[in-house]
Amino acid sequence: MKIIRSIKEMSNFSQMMHIKGKTIGFVPTMGALHEGHLTLIRQVHKENDIVVVSIFVNPIQFGPKWLWLKEAKPRSSGLEDYRRYPRNLKLDAQLCEKAGADVIFCPEAQQMYPGSYKTYVNVSDLSDCLCGKFRPGHFKGVATVATKLFNIVNPDIAYFGQKDAQQAIIVKKTVGDLNIPVQIKVMPTIREKDGLAMSSRNAYLNKEERQDATVLYQALILAKNLIREGNINASDIIRKMRQLINKKKRAQIQYILIVDLKDLKPVDKIRDKVLVALSVWIGKTRLIDNIIT
Ligand code: PAF
Repeated sequence: MKIIRSIKEMSNFSQMMHIKGKTIGFVPTMGALHEGHLTLIRQVHKENDIVVVSIFVNPIQFGPKWLWLKEAKPRSSGLEDYRRYPRNLKLDAQLCEKAGADVIFCPEAQQMYPGSYKTYVNVSDLSDCLCGKFRPGHFKGVATVATKLFNIVNPDIAYFGQKDAQQAIIVKKTVGDLNIPVQIKVMPTIREKDGLAMSSRNAYLNKEERQDATVLYQALILAKNLIREGNINASDIIRKMRQLINKKKRAQIQYILIVDLKDLKPVDKIRDKVLVALSVWIGKTRLIDNIIT
């Protein structure tokens, strides 16, 4: 497995692979890899000749400060969150290699965003709701880095997890609107046995918080069951989800929303497939999860 740090070297490598007729599958990550990423990498290995994993903690998606809005408490600034984001390239590299990666691309922030950097990609509307409402600038940072990474790695297919549903929808819109020739595949959320969605942030939870964190998935299952039973009233479902989550004393709801899959606008009466999404602080850790139902 190769570790590539230079943008130029990464581009040249991809170009060579394409000349040789190889397909490139790409998994963009910020490192701190867990079973969710590794399952994805194994799948990419099955579907492509070459697997590239980027490990880049993208400073511009952390934002200046998380806002205090209604139920949200700013437990940390964007900069703090960026600094405390777990980094362990040596371990990540071992895990990637075992899972079938051929290349890790891990550029320095300075190389991606030199002092003269000026260009950003903003997907309007889709970036301002759900998590975007509480993390101004976050999805602009994601769309920008995704565009840069696609231009550098030039993959045939890029893989994203359903856990970050809004991110996946925004990235899809970005490549569609900007005619970036890459197929986006969204893979199912990988869960722990008790249903907690795998996330690098789970590492921040202590034992009691980890137990309380299962309530996110329980609330989503509750919503799914209510919808299956014929309840079409979104506010009713959200109220019941809130009641369940509020039973956990370490949990504080940031938002629970039932939205349209295309424009992410809140749905009043559920008549079609919808995205049920939520963000909940468990202690000092903000967790997100969602289901499509
Ligand atoms: O989901 C992530 O890890 C990041 O948002 C991504 C897509 C790698 C962009 O930095």
